[in-house]
Amino acid sequence: GEKWVLSVTAQTPTNIAVIKYWGKRDEELILPINDSISVTLDPGHLCTTTSVAVSPAFTHDRIWLNGKEVSLSGGRFQNCFRELRSRATDFEDENRGIKITKKDWEKLHVHIVSYNNFPTAAGLASSAAGLACLVFSLAKLMNVKEDHSKLSAIARQGSGSACRSLYGGFVKWIMGKEDNGSDSIAVQLADEKHWDDLVIIIAVVSSKQKETSSTSGMRDTVETSALIKHRAKEVVPKRIKEMEEAIAKRDFPSFARLACADIHRHEFLRNQGSPPRLDYKDNSQVAYTFDAGPNAVLISKDRKTAALLLQRLLFQFPPQSDTDLNSYVIGDKTILK
Ligand code: PMV
Repeated sequence: GEKWVLSVTAQTPTNIAVIKYWGKRDEELILPINDSISVTLDPGHLCTTTSVAVSPAFTHDRIWLNGKEVSLSGGRFQNCFRELRSRATDFEDENRGIKITKKDWEKLHVHIVSYNNFPTAAGLASSAAGLACLVFSLAKLMNVKEDHSKLSAIARQGSGSACRSLYGGFVKWIMGKEDNGSDSIAVQLADEKHWDDLVIIIAVVSSKQKETSSTSGMRDTVETSALIKHRAKEVVPKRIKEMEEAIAKRDFPSFARLACADIHRHEFLRNQGSPPRLDYKDNSQVAYTFDAGPNAVLISKDRKTAALLLQRLLFQFPPQSDTDLNSYVIGDKTILK
């Protein structure tokens, strides 16, 4: 039989939401109940590297995640595969004597090897980078001729937040209105050069896998929180508009105020006896957010502030028993010279 293997390797960074996606209106297609906005990290830092290969010698689709084979039988993988296979186009490499027709793709199998260079499933959007990279690399391999917005809608079916990692810079995931999800796509608001003073610092305090998946966490919130509908309908649309303006104008105080206000758990549980929300102060030089885990994400105004912040954190660590680390994290105008 034929002995060739054709492969593609791609790398995709993760993204950190500053206006969060939290809550699905359709779990199968992964359609959210509100728009969200994120910042995609620099390539090469927190990212997934994925190699995909196709060969007539492969007998079924397989995937290895961080060196361990995992099952591809889940609906999310299957939905992405189906969408991509149906869009595969003819491929020919005369030099190497490889020809794959659109029809061949239906029968050929792929092997996938994927590595995260940061903790997986610890609430740092590893699935965002992972599924975006999987869809992107398979699309390249299968000669799928769709633009990033279409690919984002496919990646969305793998993991919601993944749709935003197809683009760099500042990205909005539009929730869309259609039941089939065709208009639930990511769009780039501004590229990575637009506001390149911003520095993102991720304090990995735990690389333990989170106990609750985002999906069950969201389901729980949607079923039990009286505030989630209010958030989706009344709060987020206004916040999204303001955040788009803040990004367009590179207005850090507004950007930071909105990001800090949007930390979902604080917001939903605020009226239910949980810790009070930490309010952003306009003289702060740093915004903070959390995804679905304990690891803090800090966004500082510029390199100088970031350097100072890191110095402070290092000098103060481990914290004295009476030290509230937050008072350093949030920053203070007087510490800047
Ligand atoms: O896409 P998921 O299922 O990993 O959910 C992501 C949820 C958050 O990271 C907490 C928020 C977001 O918008 O990325």
